[in-house]
Amino acid sequence: MIVLGIESTAHTFGISLLDAKKKKILCNLRDLYTTEKGGMVPNKVADHHEEICDELLRKAFDETKLSMKDVDLIAFSNAPGLGHALKIGSIFSRTLAMTHNKPLVGVNHCIAHLEVASLVSKAKDPVLLYCSGANTQVIAYDGGKYRIFGETLDIGIGNFIDTFARKLGLGFPGGPHVEKLASKGKKYLPLLYSVKGMDVAFSGLLTHLERKYIGKGKEKKEDVAFSVQETVFAMLIEVAERAMAHCEKNELVLGGGVACNKRLQEMAEIMCKDRKAKCYIPENGLLVDNAAMIAWTGFLMHTKGGITHDPKTLTIDPYERTDDVEVRWR
Ligand code: ATP
Ligand code: FE2
Repeated sequence: MIVLGIESTAHTFGISLLDAKKKKILCNLRDLYTTEKGGMVPNKVADHHEEICDELLRKAFDETKLSMKDVDLIAFSNAPGLGHALKIGSIFSRTLAMTHNKPLVGVNHCIAHLEVASLVSKAKDPVLLYCSGANTQVIAYDGGKYRIFGETLDIGIGNFIDTFARKLGLGFPGGPHVEKLASKGKKYLPLLYSVKGMDVAFSGLLTHLERKYIGKGKEKKEDVAFSVQETVFAMLIEVAERAMAHCEKNELVLGGGVACNKRLQEMAEIMCKDRKAKCYIPENGLLVDNAAMIAWTGFLMHTKGGITHDPKTLTIDPYERTDDVEVRWR
């Protein structure tokens, strides 16, 4: 069964072709909206996606020697995300479904980050530590839904790292730059550690860093970056571990761009080893926003949950919460 996956919740436009029964990713293409300076301008992101969508689909078919005839199901991320970006994916996917008379499924992007674990590993019922630019959540299945057990109370971990990097004069995205700098640091500076119940917060730490360290010349940049990583990653691992204990689950999966960070991966592995749990870390291309995870989740929803959406009426939902979704495919 060939599933065409389409991702467009934020700056990434992605197309994937997946042989779902064989669990084989035939292609997983991405094209990113980038800027020289500043953040994302929503209508510019939409322009980017609109310009690239046909070309990327053609490339996917060229690479795989498949065509629309071979596609059995279309899955696209219809929630949550940037309204402008979501709309392009929605129009593109619904038009394809109607023109070629293919079944269609709308997928929640955050849930797809969790479900992808079962595409590439033996994970059965993991807790997801989802650390991306905009999102920071600990998600697990409980009582018929994917529930959020902890999340950021202010900004996402990636946005925090990117802002910190900008203040240090490093480029965007800041994550890889900060990781490189931190690998040269040795001295741990005690920083604000903000875990509130099962939630985390980062903006107080940004202020703390600005007041005490950034541009003050007192400590080496390497040590500040090292201490920042140690502190914020410990916060995330603490909350993830507590969710695993509370839910009595013994599998962890990482998701989101920040999960590409080797130190975060190492801390996750140490924590899992300590509690005799399994730690699943998909390859980078499946950690960041991608269409293969959308295709796989769409396949599960359609085949196991009997879910098909009407392309004429399916809407986007920029604010859909993970626990708004009725999980009928497990
Ligand atoms: P979402 O829409 O799901 O919130 P996103 O659009 O922010 O995702 P992602 O690709 O999941 O996109 O994550 C991007 C973030 O990942 C950026 O903030 C970037 O700095 C961060 N990042 C990438 N590589 C690393 C790394 N090695 N270490 C830390 N952070 C990283
Ligand atoms: Fe994401």
